[in-house]
Amino acid sequence: MPKNMSPIDKAKYVAAKRAVSYVEDGMKVGLGTGSTAAWMVRCLGDMVRNEGLSITGVATSTRTATLAREVGVPIVTLDEAKWLDLTIDGTDEYDANLNLIKGGGGALLQEKIVATASDQMVVIADLTKQVDTLGAFPLPVEVIPFGWQTTKALIEETLVNLDVLGRSSALRMNNDAPYITDEGNYILDLQLRRIGNARQLSLVLNQIPGLVENGLFVDICDVVVIGNGDGTVETRDINNGTVEHDQIEVEETDNLFADIAD
Ligand code: 5RP
Repeated sequence: MPKNMSPIDKAKYVAAKRAVSYVEDGMKVGLGTGSTAAWMVRCLGDMVRNEGLSITGVATSTRTATLAREVGVPIVTLDEAKWLDLTIDGTDEYDANLNLIKGGGGALLQEKIVATASDQMVVIADLTKQVDTLGAFPLPVEVIPFGWQTTKALIEETLVNLDVLGRSSALRMNNDAPYITDEGNYILDLQLRRIGNARQLSLVLNQIPGLVENGLFVDICDVVVIGNGDGTVETRDINNGTVEHDQIEVEETDNLFADIAD
């Protein structure tokens, strides 16, 4: 375990460590993207290398695939796996119904495809991601580059009739150039501030030509595991209505990072 780990990193780590207890031998597992999901991939790599866990992973981005290979988690394509037992991923926001905003890391399209093709989705987060109403985090939508400014204008016009507080949007940039997703598309971040009806918004947005997918995950997530900087975790299961509390021990001798080239 790295010394001087920040409380937020510790929160992400313990959430990831609790979430991998959902993974069983022989499972096909969707591997999310982002800093929290990266902890989960490292935990799984540790279990594969040191505990004999046998799983097949499906990555939701090229960077997750690279990390998974580095830590020893076998990777196949979604088409090879066809259907998954479980996906574990991070989130940018979650509400009380476990509806999510995702895509802060730019991988929402593959993340949504993979999560939807899974029997169960477990989201790992810290309390800063919890909201009463979705929308403070800008909603990412993936658009094809062709005519993106027209698509942007159409999105903003469409938002006039929907239950949101803001409707401006910005093209996500990577230094001086547009950010390009793994699928070769652009991302628009919608400053909605408050999303009154996530299901309706998701359905309407996906009707707009040129918009490939939006970052709202409605009725996809089953479980949220919330990590805290003191090592405690809360696990909420929306299907059976249970809430569990655990304390995750963080060992100084933890070899999770020992053979990982950063
Ligand atoms: C990537 C995502 C991430 O899961 C989300 O942005 C959370 O990332 P992090 O764990 O780094 O806060 O949706 O597209």
